[in-house]
Amino acid sequence: MSGPVSHHNPGEGEEKAPSEDASADQKAQMEQAYAQMRRKLRMTRLAEDIGHKIMVLSGKGGVGKSTVATGLALSLAKQGKKVGVLDIDITGPNIPKMLGIEETELHVEDNQIHPADGPNGLKVMSMAFLLEDPDKPVIWRGPIKLGAIQQFIGDVAWGKLDALIIDFPPGTSDEPLTVAQSLPNIDGMVIVTTPQDVALLDSRKSINFSKTVKIPVLGVVENMSGYTLRGSAEPNSTVSVVGPQGLPVEAIVNDEGDWSVTLNLFKQGGGEEAATEFEVPFLGSLPFDPGVVRGGDDGVHRIVAEPEGDTAQAFDVIVENLLAELAKGEDDAPEIL
Ligand SMILES: Nc1ncnc2c1ncn2[C@@H]1O[C@H](COP(=O)(O)OP(=O)(O)OP(=O)(O)O)[C@@H](O)[C@H]1O
Ligand SMILES: [Mg+2]
Repeated sequence: MSGPVSHHNPGEGEEKAPSEDASADQKAQMEQAYAQMRRKLRMTRLAEDIGHKIMVLSGKGGVGKSTVATGLALSLAKQGKKVGVLDIDITGPNIPKMLGIEETELHVEDNQIHPADGPNGLKVMSMAFLLEDPDKPVIWRGPIKLGAIQQFIGDVAWGKLDALIIDFPPGTSDEPLTVAQSLPNIDGMVIVTTPQDVALLDSRKSINFSKTVKIPVLGVVENMSGYTLRGSAEPNSTVSVVGPQGLPVEAIVNDEGDWSVTLNLFKQGGGEEAATEFEVPFLGSLPFDPGVVRGGDDGVHRIVAEPEGDTAQAFDVIVENLLAELAKGEDDAPEIL
C-alpha cells in the first residue's frame, strides 16, 4: 500500500491550454474509475474467499468490543477454523497489543499486504502495524479516512478464511458504514454491551444502524456480566459478603469447604432483556474477569493463557450460538441452482 490513500491531482499549479486540461481531467477520471473498478473486483474476490464476515459493534465505548472480537476469533480458531481479525479502529488500534504481536513488521508483495500471524494461527491486520508511532493520535479527514478504510480492506492478502472478524471503534459512524457499503456479503453484526442502562440504550443505535445498512444482527453479547468471588471456609457453613449494592449476599460452603458467589456489578441480565426487546438473538454473557485486563495489557489473551477457564468456556458457548445463527442465515439464503 502506498500510504493510507493516494491522491491524484493532475495539472495542479501548472498553466495549460483548456483542451489539454480537459483531456488531463478525462484521463484522471478514467484512472479513478479504473482504480475503483479494480478495488470493487478485489472486494468481490475477497468476499468469495472468506466464508463468514462478522462485524463487532457497540454503541458505547469501552464495553469490550476488541476483547470480544479477539475472543471470538481465538475461540473459533481453537476449533481448527482459519480466522482473520481486521482491526478497523484507525485512530486507536489496539488489537495487535492485545494479541502480543505489535512488533510485527508486515510483508508487502505484489501491492498486497500480508496480515500478521497471531496466536492460534490467527491472521491479523491493523492500522497499528502501519503507524510509525501507535501512541501518536492520527487525525483523518472524512474522505481520506474513507479511502484509507477501503484500501485497508481491499489491499490485504487474507487468502482463504473460514471467518473474518471485524472490530470497530465505538458508534456507528464512518467506519462501519464504509465497511458495510464496500465489502459484499457480510453475514451480520455482533453487538457488545455491558448490563448498564446507558450501554443498553446505546445498543439500540447499533440495532437501528443494522436496519439502515440491511445487515442482520447475529446477536447481542453481554460483557462484564458478573464477578465470581471464590473462597474456602468451614464445610457446610454460610459465608456472607457485601454485594455491589451494599447489601449482604450469602453463600453456602460445600462439603469440601469451598464457596463461590457471583456478584452482578451492574445489573442482572440486561443484555438478554435488551436482545428480547429488540427481537434479536442473545448469544451469551462473559464474566467480569480481571485476567482479561491483565491479558489485554501483557498481550496474552485470556483464552490463550487459560483455554479451559471460565472466560474461555463462556466464549465457547457464545461461538456455538453464533455458529448456529450463521447456519440459520445459510438456510434462509435463496438457493442458487
Ligand atoms: N469481561 C471483562 N472483564 C474484565 N475486564 C474486561 C472485560 N472485557 C473487557 N475488559 C477490559 O475493559 C477495557 C475495555 O475493553 P476493550 O478495549 O475490549 O473495549 P472496546 O469496546 O474495544 O473499547 P473501545 O471502545 O475503546 O474500542 C480493557 O481494559 C479490557 O481489558
Ligand atoms: Mg476497541
